[in-house]
Amino acid sequence: TRVLVLHGPNLNLLGQREPDVYGPTDLATIDQRLADQAKAAGAHLETFQSNAEHALVERVQEASRQGVEAIIINPAAFTHTSVALRDALTGVAIPFIEVHLSNIQAREPFRQHSYFSDAARGVIAGLGPIGYELALQAILQAAERN
Ligand code: DQA
Repeated sequence: TRVLVLHGPNLNLLGQREPDVYGPTDLATIDQRLADQAKAAGAHLETFQSNAEHALVERVQEASRQGVEAIIINPAAFTHTSVALRDALTGVAIPFIEVHLSNIQAREPFRQHSYFSDAARGVIAGLGPIGYELALQAILQAAERN
């Protein structure tokens, strides 16, 4: 199974950024755990973080050319703003799981709408970094059953 993990803006600052909201774990640690989990399952995993909307759109288009079978994405602030990134995902028609560290439904009203959720295979929010691992587990388990 070929899986791509995408992290949106400011997630490069995890660990330092609002630790009361996003926790103490940095992005390199999250990515390493996912890499270990994928390796143990014999899956191919790539991770990519960008603060730029266009870079994320281009990475999604590249994923299609690479034959990526599933995407895990935390669009971060683009969750609430980006039709372009949503269109990239629906355009390539690669199934994706939306992950958020915090429970966006329990936060400010502007975080309670996502441009991604209705197009996602599933959504995991509020469980911290474990959310990414659960998303990867779901993808790997589903692939095993097929
Ligand atoms: C986030 C929630 C978003 O509202 C916020 O803009 C982020 C991170 C999360 O993982 O909880 O940057 O996606």
